[in-house]
Amino acid sequence: MERIWITRGDDTASEVLIGDGISTSAELAMAPRPGRVRVAVLTQPGPQRTADALAGGLRAAGYVVAQRTLPDREDAKALAVVEGVYLWLNSLGMTRQDSIVTVGGGAATDVGGFIGATYLRGIESVLVPTTLLGAVDAAIGGKTAVNVGGKNLAGVFSHPARVLVDTGLLAALPAGLLIEGTAEAVKAGFIADPELVALYQADGLRAALSEVVPRAVRVKAEVVSADFTEQGRRAILNYGHTIGLAIEYVTRIPHGHAVAIGMVAAGAVAEELTGFTSAEAQRQLLAELGLPVTAPKADPAAVEAALLLDKKRDSTGVRMVLLEAFGKPTLATVDMTTVRAGLRAVGVR
Ligand SMILES: NC(=O)c1ccc[n+]([C@@H]2O[C@H](COP(=O)([O-])OP(=O)(O)OC[C@H]3O[C@@H](n4cnc5c(N)ncnc54)[C@H](O)[C@@H]3O)[C@@H](O)[C@H]2O)c1
Ligand SMILES: [Zn+2]
Repeated sequence: MERIWITRGDDTASEVLIGDGISTSAELAMAPRPGRVRVAVLTQPGPQRTADALAGGLRAAGYVVAQRTLPDREDAKALAVVEGVYLWLNSLGMTRQDSIVTVGGGAATDVGGFIGATYLRGIESVLVPTTLLGAVDAAIGGKTAVNVGGKNLAGVFSHPARVLVDTGLLAALPAGLLIEGTAEAVKAGFIADPELVALYQADGLRAALSEVVPRAVRVKAEVVSADFTEQGRRAILNYGHTIGLAIEYVTRIPHGHAVAIGMVAAGAVAEELTGFTSAEAQRQLLAELGLPVTAPKADPAAVEAALLLDKKRDSTGVRMVLLEAFGKPTLATVDMTTVRAGLRAVGVR
């Protein structure tokens, strides 16, 4: 089992535990702490069985356990859902000594983390991400969120006490969920860990999760620890996301797919602006991983309009993360002519 610490710019820290089969371990989920009586377990439909197994373990360990299943996907990230859970926690008689455990993908951990951070002004929150995207991205870094008229518009920065990442569970994910999360995992390699890129180049989607997941988590943990509230370095995590999110907004393709296309576009821009020589290698790897590398159906005018709305834009151009090489990110303001060249490289023309 690996243990990775994340610090928050003060004297507190949270830990990420990564290992095969650990998602149902009550002992690992609950750090020793006197006074804890109740554990509320939140989950979503997909990982219900994992949540049941962990809840069973917690009961066997002597806790009073209650379980609740959130609506699936983005439907969970609503204030009405949050209020329902608060009222349920009231009915359980939860106190600040007690704990909330959230088992699920990023939508579940975003809202479970928000509830943990705000109920009784914050009670112990443990996250058990059950998608690859959740494990390498959403559950790591302390951002919590609900959707209010727009995605992630309300939330707080608050680290969970612990995150349990079960690489065995992730290895059994349906292909679609695995591929989507791989986009964010390999992104961590592109921005900060060339050896992670090499692992994916060698083994493709069969790359051992026991190797790639800790590497991707370490990248995010390091970046977040250096910049908890997102002033500077944390921006590199947005690699592929400027153009990617605009394409996601216009075409409604899955997030991981959009990020892959966004990284290919950023690669083409970097070829022109930073002397990046691995754009083709990056494109090839993403395609081999089963990710799309073009978005021919996206309307260029709509994508540009979405980019103009984005907060990463100013009057001189679009703020983008570009690579000088794998592991060497830089922030640049890219003029619209070069942005359009990047869009053409992914078939948006
Ligand atoms: N907080 C952050 O920093 C951060 C970062 C990235 C993404 N996010 C958020 O994460 C969310 C996306 O995360 P996601 O892709 O994990 O989506 P998700 O939570 O919506 O899960 C996707 C689907 O997978 C199912 N599922 C979950 N675990 C499963 C398992 N083990 N086996 C089978 N099915 C399973 C779920 O029930 C759901 O239907 C978005 O809301 C996004 O905003 C947050
Ligand atoms: Zn993302």
